[in-house]
Amino acid sequence: MLIDSHVHLNDEQLFTKIETLIEKAEGVGVVAYIVVGYDIESSKLAIELASMYEQVYALIGIHPSEASYIREEDMKWLEKNLKHPKVKGIGEIGLDYHWDKSFMDKQKDLFIKQIQLANQYKMPISIHMRDATDDTYEIIKEYKDKDLQGVMHCYSGSKEYMEKFIDLNMYISIAGPVTFKNANTPKEVAKVVPLDRLLVETDSPYLSPVPYRGKQNQPRNVEFIAKEIAKIKGMSFTEISDITYKNTIDLFDLTELKKEAN
Ligand code: NI
Repeated sequence: MLIDSHVHLNDEQLFTKIETLIEKAEGVGVVAYIVVGYDIESSKLAIELASMYEQVYALIGIHPSEASYIREEDMKWLEKNLKHPKVKGIGEIGLDYHWDKSFMDKQKDLFIKQIQLANQYKMPISIHMRDATDDTYEIIKEYKDKDLQGVMHCYSGSKEYMEKFIDLNMYISIAGPVTFKNANTPKEVAKVVPLDRLLVETDSPYLSPVPYRGKQNQPRNVEFIAKEIAKIKGMSFTEISDITYKNTIDLFDLTELKKEAN
C-alpha cells in the first residue's frame, strides 16, 4: 500500500477529474492522499476534498510566494481551521528565493509565524524549500519546538544537509526528480536516507517522474518514485511501499489508517 504524501488534488488542473485520478491510483495500490494547501483558497479546497473523500487528508498553510499578500484574517482562518478533524498539519510553508528575493523578510516572518502555530497546536509541518537551504535550516532550528515533527517536501538538497534536517526531527520526502537520468543528488540522497525517515510523494500536478517527465503529474505515478528508490536501495517495491506507508501514518497521525495497519 502506498500513500501520496504531498499532492495538490486541490489544484484546478486536478480537482475537476479527481474521481478518475483516485481510481487510477487505487489500481497501483495508493490508498491515501495528503492534499496540501498553498494559500487560503487551496487550503479551503483541501479541507473540502478531505471532507468528501475518506482517503484524503488535508494540510493547510501559506506558501512563501504568497508572503506579500497575506492579511491578518488569513492567519486567523488558518488557526481556526487547524481544529478540523481531517486537517493533519501545516503546509506547505517555507522559503523560496528562486523566483523573487524582494520579499525575503516577509517570507521569513510568515514562515516563523506558521511554525509557531504548529508548536502551539502540536501539528507537523510540511516544508517547501527552494534556493534557501541555509535560511530554512536556521529558522527551523531556532523556532521549532524540539519534539515537533515535519517533512522536507520534495527534498532536493545535499545528503549533508539531509542529515542536519533529520537531526531537527524532519522526515525526507522524495519526489519525481529521483527518476531523472542525471539527477545525481536526489539519487545519492535516496541511497543514504534512513528508512525510518523516508516518505514518497508526487507533488502532482508538478514534477512528473520518468516515464511521464514533462507531462501533467498524478498520484498513480508515486509507484515509479517508490520503484526507483527501491532499485537504488537494493530493496523491493513492497518493502519501500510498506515503510513509507507506515512513516506517513506516524508523521501525520492518521489514526484511522493506523488501526488498519495493525
Ligand atoms: Ni507542493
